[in-house]
Amino acid sequence: MSFQPTAALEAEIDELMSHYPQQKRSASLMLLHAVQEHCGYISRDAAEWVAKKLELQPINIWELVTFYPMLRQAPAGRHQIKVCRTLSCALGGSHKLYDHFCTKLGMDAHKHGLQTTPDGKFSIEFVECLASCGTPPVMMCNEEFHEGVTPQKADAIMGGCK
Ligand code: FES
Repeated sequence: MSFQPTAALEAEIDELMSHYPQQKRSASLMLLHAVQEHCGYISRDAAEWVAKKLELQPINIWELVTFYPMLRQAPAGRHQIKVCRTLSCALGGSHKLYDHFCTKLGMDAHKHGLQTTPDGKFSIEFVECLASCGTPPVMMCNEEFHEGVTPQKADAIMGGCK
């Protein structure tokens, strides 16, 4: 295990854990968010380090990293696009929207997981439900949420990313 947290990250982690003296495991997601904020993503080594901190098995942490769409397993681009692929959005055109983004960004629409453009400007990912199932297709660009996204709207969103 080669993950070496900075002193600042370790101090933040210890502070977060202090809120859960009885059930350390309850701090899992907060610790993962802190690691991602400091490192940009969560590596296997970082997940193992978090597991050790919480006295858990690595799988107990890695299963969270792979389940939650907000957690990244690889470094992301400066602008992160997430398109919902769950049922309501799939029926409402999210595959076409994802294909549109992939074509524009030169990405492979059939590849799984996060993809980043060679210049590091954009990352794109197909994710599970973004919790606005009545207004498909739904996507996020960085922290902004967009509903009923047409190809034209998608182009405008990308154009707004400097
Ligand atoms: S199915 Fe897309 S937001 Fe829920």
